[in-house]
Amino acid sequence: MKQATRLVHAGRRPAAHYGMVNTPVYHASTVLFDNLAAFDASQADPFAGVHYGRLGTPTQFAFEQAVAELEGAHGAVSTCSGLAAIATALLSVVAAGDHLLVADNVYGPTRKLCDGLLARLGIETEYVDPLISAEALAACFRDNTRALFVEAPGSLTFEISDVPALAAVARARGACVIADNTWGTPIYFDAFAHGIDLSVHAATKYIVGHSDAMLGVVNCRDAEYYRAVRHTSIALGYCAGPDDVYLGARGLRTLGQRLPVHEANGLVLANWLAEQPAVARVLHPARADHPQHHLWQRDFTGACGLFAIELIPADRQRLAALIDGLAYYGLGASWGGYESLVLPVTPAASRTATHWQAPGPLLRIHAGLEDIADLIDDMAAGLARYTAA
Ligand SMILES: Cc1ncc(COP(=O)(O)O)c(C=O)c1O
Repeated sequence: MKQATRLVHAGRRPAAHYGMVNTPVYHASTVLFDNLAAFDASQADPFAGVHYGRLGTPTQFAFEQAVAELEGAHGAVSTCSGLAAIATALLSVVAAGDHLLVADNVYGPTRKLCDGLLARLGIETEYVDPLISAEALAACFRDNTRALFVEAPGSLTFEISDVPALAAVARARGACVIADNTWGTPIYFDAFAHGIDLSVHAATKYIVGHSDAMLGVVNCRDAEYYRAVRHTSIALGYCAGPDDVYLGARGLRTLGQRLPVHEANGLVLANWLAEQPAVARVLHPARADHPQHHLWQRDFTGACGLFAIELIPADRQRLAALIDGLAYYGLGASWGGYESLVLPVTPAASRTATHWQAPGPLLRIHAGLEDIADLIDDMAAGLARYTAA
């Protein structure tokens, strides 16, 4: 089955739902059993079947099956947000006394989780340069190093780690390799072919695709990881809301159609921005001037619509003039919806293993599905306000 066909058919079982094309939204807490024998049978394996709303509904299982099939995972575990998926993955493989290696460019709340909750639980996080060599990474490993967490590219600064090389080092030492694969999506980065054990997605972004649901998912390489992750998710009481998993499953159907438009709009915009005097630097993995462009070419089959620009230095009022006057770019967190966004970001504050240096402000841009001419005109007017005498 080709990818586009899989996107349409994965996880669907119309015959089990009166012929409905999409698995309907099951709102449920209590699930009733016909008799005591059926109840007793349900207790034997909490992972199998539908027993209680928090343990999974047909809507949730349909979404999970679809995402797992798409990425080639043994199984998927959905959670109530992308951050919950990150927490679930990490808590599935580390315990008190363990050491964890985390790339310095990861999403801010991932760091906060490591430095806060995980530290309190006795798990030590060591941050490493996302561009670390395999040899240097090997030297960071200790007897108690249980996991390596990478985000390639980082969602603010867009460095791309050499994931297969780093994953090989970690796996040779028996450590779990976790990737925040939200940028790569299940279709532009083949996580399992590149050595990842747990591929985490903030499905809130492109999978849902319409900025109207919170959803996370952990795709697991094998049965052992799947059981560990499902167990952690159940232990934490995580369950994605029924409407949100439904929206995730529905969004997935058009992912293969939306992503190329985000990609094309993002690249045209990035290339245009690179020519503008107000722009000091464009950080886009699919551009030839990106320092790890060769890794993007080697490991990815596409780029999403998220990238960043460094503007020439100017004060906050100038930035406000640029952003506040934009007609088509919203100002707000998240990305992956159909609409364009901008967000000023300050990565320097959260680095510990590396330094982020940029004299001017960094603006993260999400290229939506609008007409590219409108996006360019709007941004051109914004840059003119930024540099106006
Ligand atoms: C790279 C990345 N990972 C994870 C998350 C967390 O996802 P959520 O907002 O669904 O918790 C985000 C959210 O912005 C993100 O950008």
